[in-house]
Amino acid sequence: MTGPDHIAERIETAADALRAATRVAVLTGAGVSADSGVPTFRGPGGLWRNFRPEDLATPEAFERDPQLVWEWYDWRRQKIASAKPNAGHIALVELEEIVPDLTLITQNVDGLHEAAGSKHVIELHGCIWRVRCPAEGTVAENRQVPLSEIPPHCRCGSLVRPDIVWFGESVPGEAIAAACHAAEEAEVMLVVGTSALVYPAAALPLLTSQRDGAVIEVNPEPTMLSELTHLGLRGRGAEILPQLVAAVRRE
Ligand code: OAD
Repeated sequence: MTGPDHIAERIETAADALRAATRVAVLTGAGVSADSGVPTFRGPGGLWRNFRPEDLATPEAFERDPQLVWEWYDWRRQKIASAKPNAGHIALVELEEIVPDLTLITQNVDGLHEAAGSKHVIELHGCIWRVRCPAEGTVAENRQVPLSEIPPHCRCGSLVRPDIVWFGESVPGEAIAAACHAAEEAEVMLVVGTSALVYPAAALPLLTSQRDGAVIEVNPEPTMLSELTHLGLRGRGAEILPQLVAAVRRE
């Protein structure tokens, strides 16, 4: 089946499942912010097409060249600072208002879900607007754009790092435990804009489907998850999610 009727039908089916659910988990990746002009990691125009993660997003890279790592994060912070939540982020805020128990799990560090107004957000990979002092073990908000000092320092004099989970590091225990709990309990898991190549995030939809929950994927492209997915909605988040939420609202 092809054509607009087909996608409209699929959206209705997805909306029926969401309307019937008490507990919903949403897993988002870089694709949900693509419509806000924030580059994704993989695929055309993706950050990892032009930059090597091992030079910029590992503890070793930071130890070797904190200046370079911070210059890259400062550049990304500037890009994100000029981005606004899109219709997809906003539709997820509306969905949170409709579903009795919705947990939004994101791999994104841009803070756009919170900026849109989502309340129950688990940030698996940290936040680009926070810095961490490894010497003191403290975390602080830092929204200065551009940074006046690169690399930035803590009041204690030590170098601070972005409060982001880098390759080779573990997702904070509390965040992954809460995400696993939400995924296991969910009657429906809505997966938006992730290639599902990075673990543990990529395993979360499996937890839902193992407990007989439905997995719905919103993505213009097939992904590693598409085979597991009960319903695929092919398209951009900013286009599909508002239609989906409008359909959930219609009885
Ligand atoms: P990727 O860049 O790997 O995948 C982005 C996904 O978004 C792809 O499947 C695209 O098809 C899809 N996409 C593109 N445009 C879209 C749109 N307008 N609407 C919906 N989907 C769209 O990003 P992630 O899966 O988030 O980790 O990557 C996971 C992690 O890998 C990131 O959190 C980051 C990265 O390395 C760290 O930095 C630790």
